[in-house]
Amino acid sequence: MNATPDIFSTAPIDVLIMAAGKGTRMKSKLPKVLHQLGGRALLQHVVDTAALLNARQVTVITGHGATEVEAALAVNTGAAGQFDLNFVRQEPQLGTGHAVQQAVPVLRDDGLVVVLSGDVPLTQAATLQQLIDASAGKQLALLTIDFADPTGYGRIVREGAAVKAIVEQKDASPAQRQITEVYSGIMAVPALQLKKWLARLDNQNAQGEYYLTDIVKFAVADGVPVVAHKILDPVQVAGVNSPVQLAELERAYQKRIALQLMEQGVRLADPARLDVRGSLSCATDVSIDVNCVFEGQVSLGEGVKIGPNCCIKNVSIAAGAVIHPFTHIEGGAPGSKDAIEVGAGSLIGPFARLRPGARLGAEVHIGNFVEVKNSTLAKGAKANHLAYLGDATVGERVNYGAGSITANYDGAFKHRTVIEADVHIGSNCVLIAPVTIGAGGTVGGGSTITKDTAPLTLAVARGRQVSIANWKRPSKK
Ligand code: UD1
Ligand code: CA
Repeated sequence: MNATPDIFSTAPIDVLIMAAGKGTRMKSKLPKVLHQLGGRALLQHVVDTAALLNARQVTVITGHGATEVEAALAVNTGAAGQFDLNFVRQEPQLGTGHAVQQAVPVLRDDGLVVVLSGDVPLTQAATLQQLIDASAGKQLALLTIDFADPTGYGRIVREGAAVKAIVEQKDASPAQRQITEVYSGIMAVPALQLKKWLARLDNQNAQGEYYLTDIVKFAVADGVPVVAHKILDPVQVAGVNSPVQLAELERAYQKRIALQLMEQGVRLADPARLDVRGSLSCATDVSIDVNCVFEGQVSLGEGVKIGPNCCIKNVSIAAGAVIHPFTHIEGGAPGSKDAIEVGAGSLIGPFARLRPGARLGAEVHIGNFVEVKNSTLAKGAKANHLAYLGDATVGERVNYGAGSITANYDGAFKHRTVIEADVHIGSNCVLIAPVTIGAGGTVGGGSTITKDTAPLTLAVARGRQVSIANWKRPSKK
């Protein structure tokens, strides 16, 4: 961390996110800023970072695919409640300066405006806070970085130490093109000054565009100090223009998450083979094998072990549970009836499938090729092989045999199956819901059960065995 600056900004933070550009190189119908990184739209990352800055308002400048972009954010933004989220359209797109001009009516004079890009997802809030502090609410602060190959970027032109201008690649002299310090596209600028400078922009340059970067020379002319906050980490200013760059940033993001997890003590078999597309919270002594994908909100209790090749979404897994290889857990929205719970000490998989609304108590065993949907299994219940439990309530210590299923759907309605405590369901049974199997009862293998059974009863519902002695099979001769 940098040393504490002398002056802190007290100006309210108003974030401006430029997202009107086309993104031609993505070669996609989806607007560029809606492409996903770590399970969230690029633009959502930027908005979520703005939330960490305690922004007063966040304004997104849209153009290409505006309706789609606005709709995606409006429904998706969990954090948006904390600030005022609004949209401004830029039509047509005449450059970054023109983009910011469109937002002038919504910018309040007392704010410090932080300009971000919707396609630069991995800037850290701490870095932006340093930029804000560098501006102290009254100076123009530019986020800059040195690039060995600065081609294409705006160059930071200095006289001595002082920043004098940003010159775009296409307007730069051969000498200026040698400059390796470039403008990241991110700045913090007092709103009142910004508005004055925006009014002075013109498009007399090599690209015929209104350059936001021209405000630097106006600041210099007006005697407003321009400060450059230079960082070292290129990932934080990297934009997404192509599928290749998107994939590179995805890896960078995953690496960042893997490092955070390992710093908390999580053992990752290989940090390069982990994908978190949501939030993953881990207690102590969690270990995760290779090629696991975590989506939505996942929490892993103390000592949980996740085997290789698991897909795990929206679930809370309690202490000591083991998820064996190739298990697929797909919970619905966290906190809803579709979320999934796995109890302490449970053993799941290999090749198990937990669907929305699976609620497993402690020490439940779900084995290979077992599917569980919208069902509650109490402590110690077991379904170890080739089975289906849908819309079922299963009591403690129930043993549910191989190949058994609940027939929960009559073609129009779903019905519940209740299997009380200590029941033993044999192999290859069909329990036709609605039906209740009384506590301590037994269902003989191969039974099709259509009627409730009393506690402690053996129910057998299949053709009786017929044995014919010395049976001669048909033969051709
Ligand atoms: C801009 C900077 C350049 C900097 C570079 C960093 C200007 C003039 N130049 O370059 O100094 O090094 O970013 O990546 O600002 N956008 C709009 N409307 C427009 C044009 C762009 O919303 O009319 C958006 C884009 O969608 C994108 C962002 O602004 O999110 C930056 O645009 P881009 O074309 O990538 O920036 P450059 O002009 O290349
Ligand atoms: Ca660009």
